[in-house]
Amino acid sequence: MHHVLSARQFEREELEELFDVADDIKETLSIPDGRRELAGRYVGDVLINEFYEPSTRTRHSFAVSAGRLGMIVDSTENAKVQSSAVKGETLEDTIRTLNALDPAMIVLRYHETGGADRAAAVSEVPIINAGDGKGEHPTQAILDAAIIKEKRGRLSDGTYVIGGDLLHGRTAKSLAQTLSLWENNHIIFVAIPELQISSDITMELESRGTSYEQTSDMYDALRRADAVYWTRPQLERYKNAGVSSDEGSPEGIRVDSEMIEMIRNAFVIDEAAMQVLPKASGVYHPLPRGKEISTTVDSDPRAHYFDQVRKGMHVRMALIDRIQSGRR
Ligand code: NCD
Repeated sequence: MHHVLSARQFEREELEELFDVADDIKETLSIPDGRRELAGRYVGDVLINEFYEPSTRTRHSFAVSAGRLGMIVDSTENAKVQSSAVKGETLEDTIRTLNALDPAMIVLRYHETGGADRAAAVSEVPIINAGDGKGEHPTQAILDAAIIKEKRGRLSDGTYVIGGDLLHGRTAKSLAQTLSLWENNHIIFVAIPELQISSDITMELESRGTSYEQTSDMYDALRRADAVYWTRPQLERYKNAGVSSDEGSPEGIRVDSEMIEMIRNAFVIDEAAMQVLPKASGVYHPLPRGKEISTTVDSDPRAHYFDQVRKGMHVRMALIDRIQSGRR
């Protein structure tokens, strides 16, 4: 494994191996001697987090994961305003500069789709795509699949409901492609028509033989769900979003404030929604959440979104370990 750019690059066996390593790491971390052994593994190697967009989970998760493997972590939290990007430096030159410091890997979050591919084109060291605009977020998809597997017992033969802002949300796109690696899955995409999943993803599912449907009937979908993956409206990606003084993102749909209110309230998972969800099902969310999952749902045993974060750390440790062992 060199660069990690898209969910599309992974094979099922590779991911299953990673899940196993993540489980072993979890086990090892639970013992003090194990923690010390892990922390001695890659002492002196460097992971650089270069984040052009806000992040809580992904950045901390990579930093803590790399730290627990003994690595030196160097982070820019808001590269759009804290790096030489302000002075007009191109992404390519920033990546060339970081390469000159000989890091083991660069974790990049970028505000434009294709940013990770651009970085990889000029990088000798592995680029890990931590989200590129409305493109992809492959490591999130791997951890999402891992937690669903842990909670559900398997990743095949399932009806997966993926809902929210599927047009601009990169986690949903990466997860749908990841789930298509297992057999007999059916994906129900729940969104208002303007925010439905894009055809590049549905075409990919078709080519892999995964069935899907697109609907705005949340209740009908929830009744049939083996797992529910909910996402927030990606307000910062809309044009005229009214959430900032600028025009918003050139990549997003054009909305007015009335439409934003409609989108915000379109699909809310609350106690009433949980009542129609099968007992064995589960609710997942990459976070951060807005109104789309009520906090009253948090105490339901089927709410798994904070466990998902913990799983992410183990999965990212496994991924870093995998990349590191390939370099040696
Ligand atoms: C997501 C992201 O940045 O794409 N968050 C995450 O990495 N866990 C989801 C989002 O911002 O909606």
